[in-house]
Amino acid sequence: MKFYFKNILMKIILVVLTVFNFSYTYAEECGLVVHGSDMMKFDTNEIHINKNCEKFVVNLKHSGNLPVNAMGHNIVFLESNNLQKVISKINMSHGIENGFMPEMDEILFKSKMIGGGEETTLELDPNVFISGKEYIFICSFPGHFALMKGKLNI
Ligand code: CO
Repeated sequence: MKFYFKNILMKIILVVLTVFNFSYTYAEECGLVVHGSDMMKFDTNEIHINKNCEKFVVNLKHSGNLPVNAMGHNIVFLESNNLQKVISKINMSHGIENGFMPEMDEILFKSKMIGGGEETTLELDPNVFISGKEYIFICSFPGHFALMKGKLNI
């Protein structure tokens, strides 16, 4: 009898663990949180985008204290081949609300630029990324791309 209950308890624990693990995996696969800091850094240099997701949600959080005009961060997605073209267009004159960039087809997705303590959300359509091509993400605040960049793993 004792063994029987132990067995049931073990089964319940297994089911609970499976359910938790499933929801955790699901949440991680179709979105993630990226932090930017006062040290001009993202906390990750690689983002895995699952093409099976209907949409992929990036939640960008600025973990620092500096204001947006001093240490602003956004997250911009583009093809690696277009990096030089895009960064050559970065200029203060385009305004912080545009991420200091003009409108360009080469910019696939671009979040709002935020300062310390703020956060923003960006929704990506995974279908835009073609398997076999190389993609990167950067912060487009002037000068930040040198340190604030990473690659996508599609
Ligand atoms: Co930045």
